[in-house]
Amino acid sequence: MENLITTGIYYYPEHWNENQWERDIKKIADMGFEFVHLAEFAWFKMEPTEGKFEFEWLDKVVNLCTKYHLKVLMCTPSATTPAWMRTNYPETFVMDGHYIRGEQGTRGLGSIVNPAYRKFVQAIVTEMAKRYGTNKSVVGWQLDNEPDAKADYSPSSQEAFRQWLQGKYKTIDALNAAWGTAFWSQWYNNFDQVIIPNTNLVGWWGNNPHALLDFKRYCADAQGAFLDFQADILRNNILKDQFITTNYTAVSTGADPRRTNKLDFATYTAYPNGGTSNIGDQGFRLGNGKVILFAAEYYKSVGGISGVMEIQPGPVNWGSYNPLLLPGTVRMWLYHTFAAGGKLASSYRFRQINYSAEQYHAGVIQTDGVTPSPGGEEYMQFMKEIKALRKQYKPGAVMPEKLADRSTAILWNLENYWTIDRQKQTWQWDTWNYPVKFLEIAKSFGAPVDIIPETADLSGYRFVIVPAYEMVDSALVKKWQEYAAKGGHLIITCRTATKDRMGHFWETGWAAPISGLIGANVKATDMLSNGAKGDILMTSTHYGWNNWADILAPDKNTASLAVYNNQFYSGKAAVVKHSVGKGSVTYIGVDTDDSKLESDVLQEIYTGAGATTEHYPPGVYVYWRDGFYMAVNYSSDNYEMKMPGHAKILIGSKVLEPGGVLVWNE
Ligand code: GAL
Repeated sequence: MENLITTGIYYYPEHWNENQWERDIKKIADMGFEFVHLAEFAWFKMEPTEGKFEFEWLDKVVNLCTKYHLKVLMCTPSATTPAWMRTNYPETFVMDGHYIRGEQGTRGLGSIVNPAYRKFVQAIVTEMAKRYGTNKSVVGWQLDNEPDAKADYSPSSQEAFRQWLQGKYKTIDALNAAWGTAFWSQWYNNFDQVIIPNTNLVGWWGNNPHALLDFKRYCADAQGAFLDFQADILRNNILKDQFITTNYTAVSTGADPRRTNKLDFATYTAYPNGGTSNIGDQGFRLGNGKVILFAAEYYKSVGGISGVMEIQPGPVNWGSYNPLLLPGTVRMWLYHTFAAGGKLASSYRFRQINYSAEQYHAGVIQTDGVTPSPGGEEYMQFMKEIKALRKQYKPGAVMPEKLADRSTAILWNLENYWTIDRQKQTWQWDTWNYPVKFLEIAKSFGAPVDIIPETADLSGYRFVIVPAYEMVDSALVKKWQEYAAKGGHLIITCRTATKDRMGHFWETGWAAPISGLIGANVKATDMLSNGAKGDILMTSTHYGWNNWADILAPDKNTASLAVYNNQFYSGKAAVVKHSVGKGSVTYIGVDTDDSKLESDVLQEIYTGAGATTEHYPPGVYVYWRDGFYMAVNYSSDNYEMKMPGHAKILIGSKVLEPGGVLVWNE
C-alpha cells in the first residue's frame, strides 16, 4: 500500500544468450524496476519434450533476480505450446469457422476445452507451482496471456458447447423456445443435433442472435473456467501471499473478467497508440486516451484493485502505421494508470528483439541490448518520481467532499455489448464507444467514476448511468427504482430494456419494463442517413443528431427536457426527467455524434443535484488518489489547470503540455 504502485518489466531470458542474463537483470534493477515478469511464452524450454521438465535455466534467472533485489512475477505458459504438442496432439488447437485447425507459431490458439491440452496445462502449471510456489522472490502469478475467449469450432468445443447448453436448458424444448428455432426450420429434436452457430458458413443473414449470444456466453464461461482451473492448481502449491492474476486486453469484447472466481484481481494490457488519429494534430503520437480511461476502472471492478501489465513502450509493429511517440507519452500513460488507482505497472518488453515477428516492436532497451529507448528513459523518470511520491504519501486520506459529491457509476455488462453489436440496426452505432462517451462526459466534470457490474451496490454513488443496457429483468429494474427512490440520480439511455435476458423483445410495449421508471413510453426509434441532420431543441439551444432517436411520450408528471425539432415527429420528446421518491430518473433517448446534448443534460442533472462540476477539455483527465490530485493531457494543446492558491505542485507545472503530467495536493 505504502508503495502506491510497483513497476516491473517483461524479460524473456530464452531469447538471449545466457552470458547476457546477469548484465540484463542488473540493468533492470539499476533502471529502478522492482519486479521481473518471466516465463510467459517459454513452454518449449520448460518442457522440451513431453513430460520432461527443465527448470535449471529458470532457476538461474530467478536467482539473479533475488541477487539484485528484484521480485518475480511468474507466468504460466499456456498461450504458446511447444512443437511436440502440435505434432503429436493436433487436437490441442482451436478450429476456425471453416473447421481449419490452428497451427503452432503464435499465441492463443490452444483449444482450452480440449482434454489433452488441459492435461498438458495441468502438468506444466503443477511443475511450475511446485518449483516456484514457495520461492520468496516470487510475489505472484500471471495466468496465460491476454485471455480472449476465442471462438473455437473444433469437435472438443462442439461437445463442450452442447454440454454447456444442456446444463443451462435441461430440455431441448427450453432451448428451442429460447433460441426461437421455429424460425427458418432451425428446430432441434435433441441436443446431439446442435452445432455451434457459425456465421462463417451460414452467412450474416443466417445468424440466430439468441444462439450467437449463448455461444458468446459459452466462450466467455469456458475462458473463465480455464483460468480458474489454472488458479486451482496454483493455489494447492503456492504460498498464501503469492497473488494470482491475468492480463486482459484493455478493451476486451470477448473474455469477461467477471466470469472468473479464483483470481485475486485482474490486470490489463494497454496499447493506446496504433497510429490512428486522436485529439488534435499530435494525437497520432499521443494515443487514444480512452484505452486506459476505460480499462483502469473496468478491471478494478473485478477484485477491487488492478494495474497495467503491459504498457506500450514506444512504437509497436502492428499499427496501421507506427509513429514515434511524442516525448513524455509513455510517462503520461504510466501516470494515467497510476492516477486511476493502479497498483502495478509493467511493460512489454525489456529488450527490443533483433529477430522474429515483433522485431520492429520497441522495448525499453534498444537493439544493442544496453541503451534505454526514449520509452525506457521515461520509465526511469516515472520510477524515480514514484519513489519521491511514496515519501509524501499520507495513508488514510479521505476523498475531498466536492469530488465525493460527484461520485458516478456506469453499469457495464458485456452481454449487452454482444447483443447490440450483433444487431446494431445502423452502422453508425458505435457499440464500445457509446457507453464510454458517458465515462468521458463524467470525467470532463471531474467526477470519480467507477465502471461496475449490475450486481454491485449502488448506494455509494450519487449518479448512476445505465447506457444502452439492452437486456434486463424485473429484479434489475426494481433495483434501479429503489436506488432512485432513496435519492440516487439515475440516467438511463436509449436501447435500454428492450429485450429480456435471452434477447427476445417483450410481448408488450417497447421497453415496457422501464416505462414506469422513466415516466414515459418509447413510441418508436428513428435513425438518419449519414448526411441528414436531425435537430433537437433543449431550452433555447439546438443540437444535431443522426445516429439514434427514441421518440418518447412522457406521462403527465414527467418533464420533457428536450424535443425533436425537425423530421415528421417534430415536437416529440427526446429527453425526459421523472422524479422518483427522493431521487430522479432521466432518460436520454438520443445518441449524438458530438455528445454535446448528452453532456448538457448530464450537466443539468449534476448541478440540479447540488454537485459542482469542472469543465475539462477532451483528453485532459484529472484524478484524485491517496491524497494526490493528478492530471494527464492527451490533447495537442496546452491546458492550464485551475487550482486553489494553497495547492502545492509536486510534479509538473500548472500548464500541462501535450503528453504532460501534473501532480499536486490541496
Ligand atoms: C500484446 C501481447 C504481447 C505482445 C504485444 C505486442 O497484445 O500480450 O505478448 O505481443 O501485444 O504489442
